[in-house]
Amino acid sequence: MKSPRAFYQPLAIGAPAPFREPPVALERMIHFVPPHIEKLRAKVPGLISQVDVILGNLEDAIPADAKVDARRGFIQLAKDNDFGETGLWTRVNCLNSPWFLEDLLEIVPAVGDKLDVLMLPKVEGPWDIHYADQLLAQLEAQAGLSRPIQIHAILETAEGVKNVEAIAAASPRMHGMSLGPADLAASRGMKTTRVGGGHPDYAVLSDADGTETRTAYQQDLWHYTIAKMVDACLSYGLKPFYGPFGDFSDPGACESQFRNAFLMGCLGAWSLHPSQIEIAKTVFSPDPAEVAFALKILDAMPDGTGAVMIDGKMQDDATWKQAKVIVDLARLVAAKDPARAEVYGL
Ligand code: GLV
Ligand code: MG
Repeated sequence: MKSPRAFYQPLAIGAPAPFREPPVALERMIHFVPPHIEKLRAKVPGLISQVDVILGNLEDAIPADAKVDARRGFIQLAKDNDFGETGLWTRVNCLNSPWFLEDLLEIVPAVGDKLDVLMLPKVEGPWDIHYADQLLAQLEAQAGLSRPIQIHAILETAEGVKNVEAIAAASPRMHGMSLGPADLAASRGMKTTRVGGGHPDYAVLSDADGTETRTAYQQDLWHYTIAKMVDACLSYGLKPFYGPFGDFSDPGACESQFRNAFLMGCLGAWSLHPSQIEIAKTVFSPDPAEVAFALKILDAMPDGTGAVMIDGKMQDDATWKQAKVIVDLARLVAAKDPARAEVYGL
């Protein structure tokens, strides 16, 4: 365990100091782009104002013979566009792949000044973060970067879930984490071929009452993992995210899964298809009625202490904090989204 003083020191001479407070950013959806496909790269200028984060995907879903093209395509995409307030991320290949090293060696010097976050797949423990952290610091120093690139870990192996707190605590470079339900299901030996979402067989039966019909109540397969990830992230000041939802033909199930994650503390999800951008915007922007009620609470308790009744509901210091979570998020959304700013009255 490093001493607290050393924790925030750059890991290479000349590298930028890690953030003490992470940058404030709205990240309702992390929109995946396969950068080796020119036609999709050409859509990026139009996407920038539609999404909160653009991510160039270099890992799974990119065929082995297109890995180099994807990396080069990402560099091109980063150079060609001005991203403004929209985040620019990349998901690099995993640490034990033949591509990870070149991914970093090429991307950081070329476009490290534009890259906000590096998404690191299949993180198993703090040792993976330490390695990427040190390497990034060396490359940042070499490239003369003034701002550190953050790391976002995908939680997608049984060992990663076991070590989730140590991963969260591994470095001040940590941005947050996403659930990776496909790899995680495989790693755990879960018997599902779905990418995220529920499963009809994961259910609890209503009590037998002597009749033929008993209702099966479907449960959320990912509840335990999301709860564990949210606690690990929030206790270290990181941001938790739902990952991918693979069934593009079922927007209702996607919305419901994203909403569960939002209610449990997640701030966003991946959008793998353009139709999921709006779903994520709807879900991860707080509900206008909740915002209106939260504003009432904050107005009624200007210093955040005491107890008041609003619409028959008891409010106190704790509910003031709950209200502040909603209003802070609504203000962040309003700053980027004029239509929602108007609905919220902010
Ligand atoms: C995402 O990478 C997943 O494995 O679900
Ligand atoms: Mg995965």
